[in-house]
Amino acid sequence: MTVAVATLLALAGSSVFQGAALPQPRAATPPVAVYDALRAPGTLPNRSHEPRTVEVEITAAPVQVSLIDGATTEAWAYNGAVPGPTLDVREGDRVVVRFRNALPEETTVHWHGLHVPFAMDGSPFHPVAAGAEATFEFTVPYGSAGTYWYHPHPHHRTRYQVAKGLYGALVVRAADDPLAGIEEKLIILSDARFLPDASVDLPARTTPQGRIDFENGWEGDVLFVNAQRAPSIEVRAGTVQRWRIINASAARVYRLAIPGHRLLHVGSDGGLFEHPVETDDILLASSERAEVLVRATGAPGDVATLQSLPYDRYIPQTRPPGWEQTRDLLTIRYTDEPAASPAALPTTLRRIEWLDTTQVATTRTIAMTQGFLNGRVMDLARVDEQATLGATEIWRLENLVGMDHPFHLHGFQFQVLDRNGVPVDQPRWEDTVNVPKHETVRFVVRFTDFAGKWMFHCHILDHEENGMMGILEVR
Ligand code: C2O
Ligand code: CU
Ligand code: CU
Repeated sequence: MTVAVATLLALAGSSVFQGAALPQPRAATPPVAVYDALRAPGTLPNRSHEPRTVEVEITAAPVQVSLIDGATTEAWAYNGAVPGPTLDVREGDRVVVRFRNALPEETTVHWHGLHVPFAMDGSPFHPVAAGAEATFEFTVPYGSAGTYWYHPHPHHRTRYQVAKGLYGALVVRAADDPLAGIEEKLIILSDARFLPDASVDLPARTTPQGRIDFENGWEGDVLFVNAQRAPSIEVRAGTVQRWRIINASAARVYRLAIPGHRLLHVGSDGGLFEHPVETDDILLASSERAEVLVRATGAPGDVATLQSLPYDRYIPQTRPPGWEQTRDLLTIRYTDEPAASPAALPTTLRRIEWLDTTQVATTRTIAMTQGFLNGRVMDLARVDEQATLGATEIWRLENLVGMDHPFHLHGFQFQVLDRNGVPVDQPRWEDTVNVPKHETVRFVVRFTDFAGKWMFHCHILDHEENGMMGILEVR
């Protein structure tokens, strides 16, 4: 079911919607505060009757939505909804996407993190003109079960289009999911800045704020989960939920924590880890995903909050006001039901082998400076790196400046080996890695198949579209 945000928000004011979403008021206590229950994005309906085939229709078009207090904002949306409807598929599925661009300008649809043929990648090499249609077709690889997302990637306009509301989740499921049966929540994080007339504030590069946005990446003071401000979810004490968290912000880094609760980090961009990791907070840079088991270890009636803790990714001169403040993202309300007895959770999620680093064909160094990769600005007509099909390579990412840059490679999942020479504890599949200021990160990658030209770039979208991007040709 795909429901436009405008419709949902209109309904939110009616007693019908509230009656369905709110818990029953407790007898003999004051009425509970009205709150906005977290809504799951709709799922793209499958139009195919073929086995193992998922055929969906996606249209990108302008739409009026209500994002801040009763005002109307022009957004750009997939199928009328912000976030767009979820593409929910299984490993081995053949996926056919019939896409229509009803925006006033060219766009693409990029399946961020998914291993698909070059022509289907939705990179700036394959623009879809305003008014045009395109069909994307790919097979979802086995072993890729995880949380991904789709977003536009046109030359020089990615940040604008994502900030206007074009982003949606892509969930790949495995037949043998070790966490099957655990209640799931999709948590898509985004932020935005608005002008007094409630339009999205996207100033030109030549303005003072435009220059700051170019430096920091476009960051907003209003934080959203699934395009809702500080929504709530309910949990029963003793139960566990599996959260698939996507950072769809153009630049913001989230340091996620639920005070009073330890998080069980179970997966990254490319799916589940081998072993869960207990942690107090999880850093999620732009475009990264995390799978987390949230254990309701509190008592019935408790209230907890998913927060973003301060994280200094900035150059001191352009830190946005309030950067050092903790921000609330989501309220977790424990129901009054007695605690359920906690179920045992698996300690091994799947088997992940390290890629063989004794067979490395090349080690490449990518030096990151403010706006440049290896001193160059992106040129669609140039190939920056050339690799051989089947080769295993080590990439060394050196951040030479005083600001974090999250590095993303299209088409292939990699395994981070070490950060500043300190080895990571277990192999994790990732397509984006945050490289903190003045740090060096190394990853290993294997170019199993799919010849073509693949982008690699900083996923601070202002940096990406202003040239902090290069092209890897695999052949
Ligand atoms: Cu999220 Cu070049 O992509
Ligand atoms: Cu990508
Ligand atoms: Cu950057």
